[in-house]
Amino acid sequence: SLPVDSVQALASKNLKNIPSRYIRPEVEFVVSIDESQQIPVIDMSKLDHDDGQKKLHQVCKDWGFFQLINHGIADELIEKMKIDTQEFFKLPLEEKMAYAQLPNEIEGYGQTLVRSADQKLDWNDMLFLFPLPVPLRNMRFWPINPPSFSTRRSCIRLRFISFAKNLGTDPKMLSSFFEDGAQSIRMNYYPPCAEASKVFGASPHSDATGLTLLLQVNEVEGLQIKKDEKWLPVKPIPGALIVNIGDIIEIMSNGEYKSIEHGVVVNQEKERMSMAAFQSPKVGIEIGPLADLVRKNKAQYKTMSLEEFLRLRLSRKVQGKHMLNQMKL
Ligand code: SIN
Ligand code: FE2
Repeated sequence: SLPVDSVQALASKNLKNIPSRYIRPEVEFVVSIDESQQIPVIDMSKLDHDDGQKKLHQVCKDWGFFQLINHGIADELIEKMKIDTQEFFKLPLEEKMAYAQLPNEIEGYGQTLVRSADQKLDWNDMLFLFPLPVPLRNMRFWPINPPSFSTRRSCIRLRFISFAKNLGTDPKMLSSFFEDGAQSIRMNYYPPCAEASKVFGASPHSDATGLTLLLQVNEVEGLQIKKDEKWLPVKPIPGALIVNIGDIIEIMSNGEYKSIEHGVVVNQEKERMSMAAFQSPKVGIEIGPLADLVRKNKAQYKTMSLEEFLRLRLSRKVQGKHMLNQMKL
């Protein structure tokens, strides 16, 4: 990978015109003006009931994105994670650079992998870690500051939502793949940008992993999802987690559940921060449509090992739902 500068450092120069590599390609970016449309809300305390399950099923099919309330994660833990994220990005650049990514590796402090000198860049710095499984945790990248960071596990652990009573397979099937699964986390920092409307904080993409839990760290909005060919800005509910289906669940559900394209726009005056936890199946599993589902309908996606799938994903530039389309049969 090719090294690029910290966007935070670049933003602090207060340039009037930002470098052209950050200017996003001229594509039509139509924002939905229907203010009444918002991503659905799922109440986790109602998932033991059939109605709750039916709603979850429908939402995973129609939206692939929802806000999760009554998720059972203590407010205090969420507050701490928010503060840690803010404190980390406040550290002087030299201190953050102690955790800098190594060439061709995503883990650590840096940016998304840059494959070519003409690749467009996102207006984003991040800290990427692999908290689970524990033996693979690489403490070399875990900040010693703020002090609470390393002592706490800093990962959002959620009883894996018992998906898919209505998917047509044993609900334990899908959940079992994720029990003791792998987790990666990504803390995002989007500095203010003088030419905010010309850059992406995150270019449109779908998440390669199974399920993403997203925490809005400060009050600045910016996440948008592609819904009916238009971009819909997400309005986070305080205390809720934003959850979205990733490519792996779309594949396992044989296309019933949708991994939705989304992106991030940045603010002209205010910095934005978020934290995402990506849940993946446990290592050693095959990624492909679940057997029960293929018995009813033809398989829509290839099957390959998780390692092969992730290698494929990391070997190319992220671009919309490109990766998922490559998995289609
Ligand atoms: C992402 O999906 O890449 C980041 C989401 C966010 O910052 O809200
Ligand atoms: Fe994402």
